[in-house]
Amino acid sequence: MARPKASNKVLEVLNNIYTGEIGAVGIYMDQHIKAADAGYKQFADMLKKDAVEEMKHAEHLAERILYLGVDVRYDKHEVPKMPETDPIDFFKTDIMLETVAIKRLNDGINICFKEKDNGSRLLLETILQEEETHLDVYETMLENITKYGDAYIVQHLM
Ligand SMILES: [Fe+2]
Ligand SMILES: [Fe+2]
Repeated sequence: MARPKASNKVLEVLNNIYTGEIGAVGIYMDQHIKAADAGYKQFADMLKKDAVEEMKHAEHLAERILYLGVDVRYDKHEVPKMPETDPIDFFKTDIMLETVAIKRLNDGINICFKEKDNGSRLLLETILQEEETHLDVYETMLENITKYGDAYIVQHLM
């Protein structure tokens, strides 16, 4: 069966999102290790789980790019400068990262639709739903830290 013809616009989208995912893996792993070192065990476990989810996103994107018949392009991802171990700063960084990722995915979905590559569109939609869940969890936790302070941190992050 013939594979869909790869559109350059779609390949650009898939490669850009792939790069973003690899960046997110690095950032969440870095945060996971710092959080564990500072004694935030539950927070560290969550960040590790999320890093693995971002890795799976990258994996599925790379598989799709190869399926479309081209090699994956790797661009260095800009890593934001982060304060060391403050959970509040981690959450702010992660909310920003997920917000950027969600915008990139929504724009990419529109391009895939216009280019009639619905296989790629469906993959991006699946990833989008998971990023929305990440964002929702981070926003809720940050709100709760603001509301309940140290008691919340001790009970839910340590
Ligand atoms: Fe992701
Ligand atoms: Fe995410």
